[in-house]
Amino acid sequence: MADNLIAPSILSADFARLGEEVVNVLNAGADIVHFDVMDNHFVPNLTIGPLVCEALRKHGVTAPIDVHLMIEPVDRIIPDFAKAGASYITFHPEASRHIDRSLQMIRDHGCKSGLVFNPATPLSFLDHVLDKCDMILLMSVNPGFGGQSFIPSALDKLRQVRKIIDDSGFDIRLEIDGGVKVDNIREIKEAGADTFVAGSAIFGKPDYKAVIDEMRAELAK
Ligand code: DX5
Ligand code: ZN
Repeated sequence: MADNLIAPSILSADFARLGEEVVNVLNAGADIVHFDVMDNHFVPNLTIGPLVCEALRKHGVTAPIDVHLMIEPVDRIIPDFAKAGASYITFHPEASRHIDRSLQMIRDHGCKSGLVFNPATPLSFLDHVLDKCDMILLMSVNPGFGGQSFIPSALDKLRQVRKIIDDSGFDIRLEIDGGVKVDNIREIKEAGADTFVAGSAIFGKPDYKAVIDEMRAELAK
């Protein structure tokens, strides 16, 4: 399995100092930047778009930017995010009428593609598109807000997806998002995740490096 990646969700960062926050969290040892895009339609909250992604690139951020789209429709924003410097673009299958086309469109624009599953969304959406996914993101909270508690049924779902990925032989990252903390990250890794989004657990503490080091220590156990 690929190395474990820690992906701070900037949803919990101080937006008034976003560039500085992202540089600080990367200097503290984070691997990729998790970028939550919400439209007040697919989810009941409104956040940031391609302009902010581009601004982070202009600020000198070179780490991968992992764009998690919680918007509907999906397709017309894909070229804008690709141009703005997104590395991964993932979306929820409920938000696209033509899932295969949206995944292909992401790759055609030079980004890595992926599907996101809400806690109650069935994995059958993967059946015919596994070869078009570079990432599968499992939500362990209902999307829309940071700071919610990890839903335990996500562990079983992780185990199922880990098996699907391993059986397929494709190189697909398995990301988990929602309620990830120092005290549950090891159990989540053991269930099969290799990419760990954490918002409030990291940005809610004054010392980002201390939290990321603790997470890495748990992952190494
Ligand atoms: C929720 C977002 C998450 C969120 C995670 O809809 O997709 O990325 O920021 O926040 P925590 O880690 O605080 O649960
Ligand atoms: Zn997210």
